[in-house]
Amino acid sequence: MTPRTASTSLANDLKTKIQNRQAKVAVIGLGYVGLPLVLLYSEQKFLVTGFDIDQRKIDTLASGASYIFRIDPAEIQVARAAGFSATADYSRLRDMDAIIICVPTPLNEYHEPDLSFITDTAHAMAPHLQPGQLVVLESTTYPGTTEEVLVPILEKENSSNLKAARASQTSENDFFVAFSPEREDPGNTSVARRDIPKVVGGLDVQASDVAAALYGSIFNRVVPVSSPSAAEMTKLLENIYRCVNIALVNELKLLSLRMGLDIWEVIEAASTKPFGFHPFYPGPGLGGHCIPVDPFYLSWKAKEWDFRTRFIELAGEINIGMPYHVIASVVAALNQKRKPLNGSKVLVLGVAYKRDIDDLRESPALTIIELLQKEGAVVSYNDPYFPSIGKGRKYDLQMKRTPLEHLEQYDCVLIVTDHSDYNYKQIVQDAQLVVDTRNATKGIRSEKIVRC
Ligand SMILES: NC(=O)c1ccc[n+]([C@@H]2O[C@H](COP(=O)([O-])OP(=O)(O)OC[C@H]3O[C@@H](n4cnc5c(N)ncnc54)[C@H](O)[C@@H]3O)[C@@H](O)[C@H]2O)c1
Repeated sequence: MTPRTASTSLANDLKTKIQNRQAKVAVIGLGYVGLPLVLLYSEQKFLVTGFDIDQRKIDTLASGASYIFRIDPAEIQVARAAGFSATADYSRLRDMDAIIICVPTPLNEYHEPDLSFITDTAHAMAPHLQPGQLVVLESTTYPGTTEEVLVPILEKENSSNLKAARASQTSENDFFVAFSPEREDPGNTSVARRDIPKVVGGLDVQASDVAAALYGSIFNRVVPVSSPSAAEMTKLLENIYRCVNIALVNELKLLSLRMGLDIWEVIEAASTKPFGFHPFYPGPGLGGHCIPVDPFYLSWKAKEWDFRTRFIELAGEINIGMPYHVIASVVAALNQKRKPLNGSKVLVLGVAYKRDIDDLRESPALTIIELLQKEGAVVSYNDPYFPSIGKGRKYDLQMKRTPLEHLEQYDCVLIVTDHSDYNYKQIVQDAQLVVDTRNATKGIRSEKIVRC
């Protein structure tokens, strides 16, 4: 058998196993992306093993419980009954057919990509790699990561001289590599996960085919692209598009406030255009693991090509400034009541980075709370999803949730996240002053409300 036919036969074997639901699927990184993926594969009758370095997560899953609010423990129990288990033992990767990596890709303190989670995973995986296995990276990252960072470690550190299958290089000892970005929109229930098309870019055609077969078993549509880099760039384009457009409406909101216009009314009117306009909404600043972070992966990589991504930088500047605008608005609103921010009691409503989700990462609420405290405000918070706020990557606020009662005791109630559980009419009725960063009080008329 020639190396090419041997590699084709490995790919065909794996595709057949996938079609017959005999392929064993590993998901590395059981967070917001990895755990739902585990459940999707398990629902489709695959035997799934989850890998994580966080022992608490492994123990929680072993007890049939869930650590993600929107994932019901019953779903974990069903998956467990179908054979799902979680482990920190990477040697169990030897038995797997497909390995999907969903580890974090944050920025470091200098706003540069921190790929340490990907490289740590690659180092831990490599000794256990087997011929014919498919490795897919899902973590959002700059174009080139799969080929320049992941593959070299896997090739160098595996124990059987295995090589990633490429058009220019095939051997009997191939493994297959692809990149496929995650497109989940937390809290959005309007599109079923299966209906979100899955972009896949393999290192070669065979890798693309096998990865397409793997994802085709849980997603209704797979969109193949020519390379892992094209797939990596696709994800960044999607998120940069959001980031830049949010910055645009944030800037236009600041102008509208000066001009005495209501930007929300304007966006609503513009949205009636049946073509060429997609609405984006202003807010107190960007949050979440994706939009505030991912664009900087590209601007960092662009420097290698002597290129400045000016739209990304400008959008970053505007979006990063929004929490400061919120503070200025609170100061101005209190000033109208002849009160200084220093010593005022401020209740922050909603700390999650967006409505109806249990995710605090990069939330502008954390920056806002810190800025308020620096100015001497006495800050409390309420959020149905967070009984307390502990230590995060940037902040260590150590606060406990305040019940939503006696709102008249606060000098200002500041709406940062517009959770749909809140009764905004009641809040306005009870509070002395409401500063609203999200238009949550739309339709309520009251002199107590300051929209900013
Ligand atoms: N959360 C989202 O909505 C979303 C959407 C699209 C893309 N993404 C991308 O997906 C990736 C994962 O994001 P997430 O939100 O699931 O992160 P997360 O922090 O919720 O989960 C990551 C998990 O990986 C584990 N982990 C870290 N290092 C590991 C290692 N070496 N081996 C095994 N496990 C390890 C962590 O313990 C954690 O459980 C990121 O690149 C992110 O940018 C996230």
